[in-house]
Amino acid sequence: MGRRARVVVLPGDGIGPEVAASAARVLGAVAKRFGHVFDLEPHSIGASALRADGKPLPPRTLDACLASDAVFLAAVGDPAFDANPPERRPEAGLLALRKALGVFANLRPARLLSGLNGAGPLKPEVARGLDLVIVRELTGGLYYGTPRRLDLAGGEAVNTLPYTTAEIERVAEVAFRLARGRRRLVTSVDKSNVLETSQLWRAVVTEVGLRYPDVTLEHQLVDSCAMSLVLTPGRYDVLVMENLFGDILSDECGALVGSLGLLPSASLGDGPGLFEPVHGSAPALAGKGIANPVGAILSAALLLRHGLALADEASAVERAVEAALAAGARTADLSPAGGAGILSTTAMTDAIVRAFETAA
Ligand code: IPM
Ligand code: MN
Repeated sequence: MGRRARVVVLPGDGIGPEVAASAARVLGAVAKRFGHVFDLEPHSIGASALRADGKPLPPRTLDACLASDAVFLAAVGDPAFDANPPERRPEAGLLALRKALGVFANLRPARLLSGLNGAGPLKPEVARGLDLVIVRELTGGLYYGTPRRLDLAGGEAVNTLPYTTAEIERVAEVAFRLARGRRRLVTSVDKSNVLETSQLWRAVVTEVGLRYPDVTLEHQLVDSCAMSLVLTPGRYDVLVMENLFGDILSDECGALVGSLGLLPSASLGDGPGLFEPVHGSAPALAGKGIANPVGAILSAALLLRHGLALADEASAVERAVEAALAAGARTADLSPAGGAGILSTTAMTDAIVRAFETAA
């Protein structure tokens, strides 16, 4: 029996609308092949919403997200709003949405896809075996902590990094459960040699780890982890960390696998999940039709798996991406030397949809 699901699509800014169209096409192909009905409801967020409504997260967008089965978001951000106060920047829309949905666990898988070993800066023998997931705490920490203020004229600014035991515990639980279905190693990343928050983080994760005797827990300082990710990426399985640390290290993983444009994410809480590629709005690429749609398409796969519990459908999409890449399909970000044969966003999407439709 087919499923009927309500999916809110937030194209957002920059390259967002281009890659959202790719994700929507793939969801359409999945619905057709598996006999589902996905009602895709577009809504505005970010800079496009600021321009239209004066708000980065209009109430009707939020209401639609809260009433949905899952939310797909492509990207927010626009340098035109750089001088705005924090609550009237495009990013504020995304941060408010994450908080309102309560999606505290952000899963950011990064692995080497077929044919892409050597696409990034790592030597193939160093990159071999790279297959990890960053579990980024998403609704707390430095992004949301108060007090916060900016006094530009006075030359003073404050941000705060608070965490409670409950917040650390629930995201650590997600990491350990995930590791159980993988290689059973959790690396908890912190800065406990300097930050009190990290000392609490380390103590709580250690405590949670006692409930998972079958999973190995190690702790690593964030600076050291940033280095080891480049030197020995293949040794990591699941990494769990504070919001800002996860933001930073996940971009590093984008470089390691060949392009930030490849990475998907799933943000999970108790209600509808939020699924977004890790890349941002990439204003320099916007409107040129050259953005890599793979991060968005793999985010649609995560939406199928974690948002709609359609695991077979998700795997079929992931196999189609791998098949297209293995056959040599490449967007510009994956072909730094340029040249003929580089695919546009639309042509790359065509290649993936074709691989999906022709697979048994
Ligand atoms: C990300 C992005 C966002 C973040 C921005 C757009 C607010 O960089 O999802 O990684 O910092 O979380
Ligand atoms: Mn980021």
